[in-house]
Amino acid sequence: MTPPAQSAAARPREISSDAEDYSDALLTGLRKQPKCIPCKYFYDAEGSHLFERICETPEYYPTRTELSLLRRHAAEFADLIGPDAEIMEFGAGAGEKIRPLLDALERPRAYRPIDISGAYLKGVAARLRREYPALAIEPIVADFSGDLSMPNPSSVRRIGFFPGSTIGNFEPEEARQFLTRSAKLLKGGGLLVGVDLVKDPGVLHAAYNDRAGVTASFNKNLLARANREAGADFDCDRFAHYAFYNPMQRRIEVYLVSMAAQRVTICGRQFAFADGEAIHTEWSYKYTVEDFRALAASAGFVPHAVWCDPGRLFSVHWLESP
Ligand code: TRP
Repeated sequence: MTPPAQSAAARPREISSDAEDYSDALLTGLRKQPKCIPCKYFYDAEGSHLFERICETPEYYPTRTELSLLRRHAAEFADLIGPDAEIMEFGAGAGEKIRPLLDALERPRAYRPIDISGAYLKGVAARLRREYPALAIEPIVADFSGDLSMPNPSSVRRIGFFPGSTIGNFEPEEARQFLTRSAKLLKGGGLLVGVDLVKDPGVLHAAYNDRAGVTASFNKNLLARANREAGADFDCDRFAHYAFYNPMQRRIEVYLVSMAAQRVTICGRQFAFADGEAIHTEWSYKYTVEDFRALAASAGFVPHAVWCDPGRLFSVHWLESP
């Protein structure tokens, strides 16, 4: 079946992120001491698919826990959000989590998934268009950690949806800045945000060290992607996935560790890795309910309701932006 031709309005809007930005960011990160690769580069098409597989591992509880909260409380969210709302999702991923919300909302005006992976987003948007033919679905290819200001010309109530505890991938000060920007963007509406909770370090550790090694492949995809897109020659087998929970900072720290002294060429430039040298790839901060509410309040939101699963693994917060 051939998909219908897309109108200009239906085509994903490109705000940023092209091959040059990617190579520049990669070189900049690897010139730093310690070396790092910005975590948004996990999510090319291959990385997005690997992340979906992480979500299916028995150890990675956040996705299924959050999804069951979203399903269980969808009617309450819909009451708080009200009719005729426009929903913007930050980091739309597979588009799975929005369904309970779209099904429960009264006459939603538009759904705008924002994601850095254009190809991936296109597929997700096409699927949702078939399921919700009456809804305006307007994908936006963008890095939501950057400037997101867009005019809010109408009286439409604009709602943000930010699941997956992706907010935890910002450092707390960056998270505050993101929340400050989104409180402005969503003025008159609010933000529904999923936040992973502080808990037993063993449970946290396992979630980022699944036995099947999917998380390791996901992390190493950063190197494979550099080989594909930045002319790099990383030997992925000579780097190890290393992730652990730091209880003092309340965050998972994720690294790729060089298993030998080695040289790697990236975009024609040489990089030396010492034996045991780490590339930092991700933080995943965990919050208590109280700490997250305080953070949101300091960014200009009015924290309203919060929902947790009985095991208190995960939280979903409704923050109003008056
Ligand atoms: N937002 C997810 C999280 O912090 C991303 C993630 C899950 C991730 N597993 C990972 C990032 C492993 C890097 C490595 O839970």
